[in-house]
Amino acid sequence: MTTHRATAERAEGMEAWVPDVEVKVPGVEVRPAAGHIGAEITGVDLAGPLDDAVVALIRQAVLRWKVVFFRGQDLDHAGHVAFARRFGEPVVLPRRGPHSPPDFPEVETTADRLELAGRYGMERDEWLHRRRHTLLRGWHCDYGTRVDPPAATVLRADAVPPYGGDTTWANLAAAYAGLSAPVRAFVDGLRAEHRLGVGYQPRPGDDAYVRHLLDHQVVSEHPLVLVHPETGERVLFVNGYYVEEIVGLSRPESTAILEMLVEQAVRPEYTVRFRWEPGSVAFWDNRSTIHLAPSDHAHLGHSRIMHRVMLAGDVPVGVDGRRSEAVVGTEPGRW
Ligand SMILES: [Fe+2]
Repeated sequence: MTTHRATAERAEGMEAWVPDVEVKVPGVEVRPAAGHIGAEITGVDLAGPLDDAVVALIRQAVLRWKVVFFRGQDLDHAGHVAFARRFGEPVVLPRRGPHSPPDFPEVETTADRLELAGRYGMERDEWLHRRRHTLLRGWHCDYGTRVDPPAATVLRADAVPPYGGDTTWANLAAAYAGLSAPVRAFVDGLRAEHRLGVGYQPRPGDDAYVRHLLDHQVVSEHPLVLVHPETGERVLFVNGYYVEEIVGLSRPESTAILEMLVEQAVRPEYTVRFRWEPGSVAFWDNRSTIHLAPSDHAHLGHSRIMHRVMLAGDVPVGVDGRRSEAVVGTEPGRW
């Protein structure tokens, strides 16, 4: 793994991380897809044996571009897990959706339209309506309420609609660097509570989702700005899904500041959007990005089936060296 340069600019988060020595492999190309985030990698067969140089190149590209894309891959579940394992330890989820393959506990399969319908006794539209309390609601990192969110996610498309269903990612290190110096200094020392069900509007009377939350709540306190464990970049660790409260601030102060920060995080210049095809694979750094699951395909009547493998991550560390802390239902390394 190439180390990062410890320049003053880097330490202040003002410069995108670039490796000291760029790994090159003949025949393999990294093509940036947008100014701050996203690159397509060509010339690699993810199902084949990968030599160490290719693994190093991909790892470096993920750190530099935050999300990388591969097209036309022919991975099965075993190949998907084997590929992910070259970069870390796959997470085994204690609970998975009903479409996940029983023989591959590291793989979680989502079939959006099938799964969400009828969940918690609600039709899909009502469920989404009750959860989407703001326009930025859908932006999230995977399992961000855990005290040790996954380091990375490898998502592979199986069936996708002919149009609609794109995923968008935002670069939280670039978003931090784009803040003014006084605001960076202000947010550097803050911490925020991340929990499930933020902003959910309960049904009148009995609500199965509220009961589910009471039984399965997961809450952590994370630094608002974390220091990336591999690149040293400062990362504006916010999203519209799990965060409602900045620790020590009043509710109106938290609301206004978080809205400003999440808007900053998802400004178009910090994002990249990916059009899936069957056989597409996206591999992202889950600590320095948030992503937006699509909501423009359910009405089209086409299925969208995706398989996901996540890699275990560390407990984040803030600018002041303070680590994230578990509050409810989460322990490092224990899923
Ligand atoms: Fe996700």
